[in-house]
Amino acid sequence: MKEDFFKYQAQTTPHPLALEISHAKGSYIYDIDGNAHLDFVAGVSACSLGHCHPAVIKAIEEQLQKYMHVMVYGEYVQKPTVEYTKLLASLLPAKLDTTYLVNSGTEAIEGALKLARRVTGRSQIISAEHAYHGSTMGSLSVMGFEERKKAFRPLIPDISFINFNNENDISKINKETAAVILETIQGGAGFITPNNDYLQKIRQRCDEVGALLILDEIQPGFGRTGKLFAFEHYDIAPDILVIGKGMASGLPVGAFIASNQMMACLKDKPKLGHITTFGGNPVIAAACLATLKVLLKEQHIKETLEKEKLFRSLLIHPSIKEIRGKGLMLALMLETTEIVNYLVLSAAKKKLILFWLLFEPKAVRISPPMTISNEEIRQGCEQIIKILNGYQSTTVN
Ligand SMILES: Cc1ncc(COP(=O)(O)O)c(C=O)c1O
Repeated sequence: MKEDFFKYQAQTTPHPLALEISHAKGSYIYDIDGNAHLDFVAGVSACSLGHCHPAVIKAIEEQLQKYMHVMVYGEYVQKPTVEYTKLLASLLPAKLDTTYLVNSGTEAIEGALKLARRVTGRSQIISAEHAYHGSTMGSLSVMGFEERKKAFRPLIPDISFINFNNENDISKINKETAAVILETIQGGAGFITPNNDYLQKIRQRCDEVGALLILDEIQPGFGRTGKLFAFEHYDIAPDILVIGKGMASGLPVGAFIASNQMMACLKDKPKLGHITTFGGNPVIAAACLATLKVLLKEQHIKETLEKEKLFRSLLIHPSIKEIRGKGLMLALMLETTEIVNYLVLSAAKKKLILFWLLFEPKAVRISPPMTISNEEIRQGCEQIIKILNGYQSTTVN
């Protein structure tokens, strides 16, 4: 199977981990030899309720028995999709009352950028250095990492960059700006949280100049930081909210959310302003609805902050210089890239799944399922400390 994987499936790095999967349940992924791997990554923050949560499986199975796909987005009334968007609206600020469901995070970003240009009649988009918003052409254009972009130029025009958390840059937002797009917490950059009232200042400047604020919560959304959406920590709300990853606890989905009035721009002049065949798919919407209901009913969001404290109390070691992030979106900052590689690869051998962050070579990602138990956290952290001790002794000897 592994040979065929390398032969027939496109690769994105020269050395994929290539773990051969049998099945997954809760906080564990099982390989074909029957080994259980403790998952501290959750499919890169996607499996919020762990692997194969029974409520999600049940909702998917029930919907599969009824219908899977009947029409392109937005033409027919499909119960799981309507119920889901209604529930989302009830949990969000009043101006975020209309959801456009798509198939992935990057596609949701594309929709948000198009909507911002259409609503404001302006073209300039301001993004942040080290931002990651996805891999399609529009999202790539607002990515703040030139080294990964230059091979694909020319990208879409009229994009400028500011430095995240730098208040001096805020004045670059001006009356020609259609939108400012920011991750509420920068992911690929190393889980960088916004300082003090930085986001409030951005919000205020956008209001002054008539620019829209797009917040990308594809990663921090759905409880991972201890609130349903991370912007709730900072006492602001975006004009367009972009979500994805953990929404369906492991199925492909994304969405952009704005006011009904703004969204109306997509149905007129030109009509069909943004279309998708599978966006809003009822099976995926059923999984989204089940995920959200579990998050609202059970204590996972609240417990996220307790679990963060537990991680921070256990991960004390001379090689760990800092732990960045919030809730269950944590980055261990190590001294060198070599230690990072040593830790991630040694952990893989010891059946603990860790991963890298996109643009920060000294960071190790910890973003486990929100359902992870305290005992599982303890076991994984103990393993991390042992591995780091091992690195110290190899370098000392
Ligand atoms: C903040 C953020 N935005 C956008 C994306 C793109 O989402 P997708 O991979 O579903 O296209 C990601 C994915 O890692 C992300 O973390």
